[in-house]
Amino acid sequence: MSVPDLMTVVEIAAPGGPEQLKPVKRAVPKPGNQEVLVRVAAAGVNRPDVMQRQGRYPPPAGASDLPGLEVAGEIIALGAGVSGLAIGDQVTALLAGGGYAEYAVAAAPLCLPVPNGISMVEAAAIPETFFTVWTNLFDRGRCKAGDNVLVHGGTSGIGTTAIQLAVAWGARVFATAGSEDKARACERLGAARGINYRTEDFVEVIRAATAGAGIDVTLDMVAGSYVARNLEIAALEGRVVTISLLGGSRAEVNMGVILTKRLTLTGSTLRSRTVAQKAEVAEAVRKNVWPLLAAGRVRPVIHATFPLAEAGEAHRLMETSNHIGKIVLTV
Ligand SMILES: NC(=O)c1ccc[n+]([C@@H]2O[C@H](COP(=O)([O-])OP(=O)(O)OC[C@H]3O[C@@H](n4cnc5c(N)ncnc54)[C@H](OP(=O)(O)O)[C@@H]3O)[C@@H](O)[C@H]2O)c1
Repeated sequence: MSVPDLMTVVEIAAPGGPEQLKPVKRAVPKPGNQEVLVRVAAAGVNRPDVMQRQGRYPPPAGASDLPGLEVAGEIIALGAGVSGLAIGDQVTALLAGGGYAEYAVAAAPLCLPVPNGISMVEAAAIPETFFTVWTNLFDRGRCKAGDNVLVHGGTSGIGTTAIQLAVAWGARVFATAGSEDKARACERLGAARGINYRTEDFVEVIRAATAGAGIDVTLDMVAGSYVARNLEIAALEGRVVTISLLGGSRAEVNMGVILTKRLTLTGSTLRSRTVAQKAEVAEAVRKNVWPLLAAGRVRPVIHATFPLAEAGEAHRLMETSNHIGKIVLTV
């Protein structure tokens, strides 16, 4: 297939609201060493894209200035030194940016085959959330069968993934969300109990439901006022993993609780890691999660799709927080 010189992309014209996402023409990028060019069929939308648009999450050095951390599509060109991938392969890829476009360059080690039975829209919704959940809940958080797991933001793209993976692992999952409907949606995904944090105190609910044992692993995107409560409800040897700061970055911590319960407080971001570090996550996800996707035991939850040119509408929807699961752009 011939590669055109120009493509439509959606760029951030200036930091600001969703109206700053504008379709424009740009040169189709060329794949470099160990990179491939993907003709994008669908691109996932993630909360970090919203933060980037607002000017609060600049792309790492060397990354595209375009938003978009994940795409699915067909490989149409190979850079130097690529092995194990071929033109025509259908892949889903984790990007450091550049996904809101008709064509995107991806690092070869961060391309995974589209699993059997998974559509391009679903495939585009996988890398950012599944890689993030894997490296935080399982790698850092050491989630294992029989654990009590707490997922905050249970209906987010990250949350819907974390609930399903933890349940598939044999954990008992509690999930918080901002409405009754969303709490029930968490339960439909396998959570033992969805907690509407607007009407219920998650510490009280979990203390009662676990007969005081508490939570082994918490995946937290809120921080702020949740930090002390996460520690309060943590089990002996519990792990609390912070992946975002939606509720604020500052918290007062009672170090005595960490000592007496032998807790681990940790956290991470995915985007700033090197390709080699992300490739390790990709390998672990391919080994541990791809069989679950192929078997239909876990599946990305798609809330809505928008054409690429309507990326601004997709961001508006995300900022309402009314969605359950992922929002995806189609090309
Ligand atoms: N560390 C990493 O590597 C990494 C990677 C990807 C994403 N993330 C982070 O993980 C979080 C989820 O990402 P996503 O793409 O899955 O997002 P998303 O689908 O937009 O979900 C975010 C959810 O967080 C909840 N929330 C709680 N407090 C909030 C607040 N103060 N403002 C806005 N929302 C709030 C909202 O649900 P309720 O209304 O039900 O509370 C909202 O639906 C984001 O914060 C993102 O930055 C981190």
